[in-house]
Amino acid sequence: MDTPENSPNPELAEFYSRIDKQELAPLWEVIHRLVAPKPITRAVPHLWQYEQVRPFLMESGTIISAKEAERRVLILENPVLRGEARTADTLYAGLQLILPGEVAPAHRHTPAALRFILEGEGAYTAVDGERTYMSVGDFILTPSWSWHDHGHEGVGAMVWLDGLDIPQAHFFGATFGENYPEERYPTTRPPETCNARYGANLRAVDDEPTDPASPLFSYPYSQTRPALEQLCASRKPNPWHGYKLEYRNPMDGGSVMPTISAFLHGLPQNFQSQRYQTTEHQIFSVVEGTGRTVVGEGENQTEIEWGPRDHFVIPGWYPYAHETEGEVVLFSFSDQVSQKKLGLWREQRHD
Ligand SMILES: [Fe+2]
Repeated sequence: MDTPENSPNPELAEFYSRIDKQELAPLWEVIHRLVAPKPITRAVPHLWQYEQVRPFLMESGTIISAKEAERRVLILENPVLRGEARTADTLYAGLQLILPGEVAPAHRHTPAALRFILEGEGAYTAVDGERTYMSVGDFILTPSWSWHDHGHEGVGAMVWLDGLDIPQAHFFGATFGENYPEERYPTTRPPETCNARYGANLRAVDDEPTDPASPLFSYPYSQTRPALEQLCASRKPNPWHGYKLEYRNPMDGGSVMPTISAFLHGLPQNFQSQRYQTTEHQIFSVVEGTGRTVVGEGENQTEIEWGPRDHFVIPGWYPYAHETEGEVVLFSFSDQVSQKKLGLWREQRHD
């Protein structure tokens, strides 16, 4: 906005100076920045290579315990949003380390969280007192306000991607939480009860969906990987997405949580996707294979080369296309469901 000092019009400058004292500002000076022909995002595309991040994550394991840290996580901070604990405008992502014998103590909070397992075996996440044991490629939910703790009963480091809607909760001024008085929330059900209850695509007829999040909080890779493989074998790839499965809430077929959508992608070998853009903000975790994603256009175009366990962010409305040599599996999460509920979501498929 033109300040009183630099406004080219002395009459306007003098006017701005007087209204400024009443906490008033002229909309006509900023309207073009508030509402532009194209969506405006703050975050920029960025890649975090696992081989660069992992040594720091392991080092953090030697200087602070999971209990001391409460959660031993390195946040994937967007380069232009440093200090804001956000990876994209509306999403947070971090890499969490837990070592054998450690417990990340029970707490709950209004932001909703997901985990996508990157390495290790033998650790569990407990949600409201029910444990699920985690393996590489598993997708786990800890929905808003659910008690959750993590423990590691195996050997070796266990690392996973944390994805949260923290910036969305912050926007509403509705971020709060509490610690449970003990390290672990008491066991309420046998491990993996939710998989038996809801994982067979059966719903009790008198069980109405009351919670906005999925009661199935564990989607094992041992089940999702064959589903993706069969989809890939059954039809031609979508020109923009390749093969893209959405993790669903079995109660209503909707997204897994009210603010976060999550997906498993299969890209065939020698695949070049058509350019695509969407208003949703997306964070990708590479599960299998290598490739590259060309993001942006003109002088702002960047090429992101990725491999297993790398993470990258594509902010809203950046056009992008994926390229592969071999077969690829990607995991992603986004704010698509929030944007759709608010009537904001758009996409553009380029030929
Ligand atoms: Fe948490």
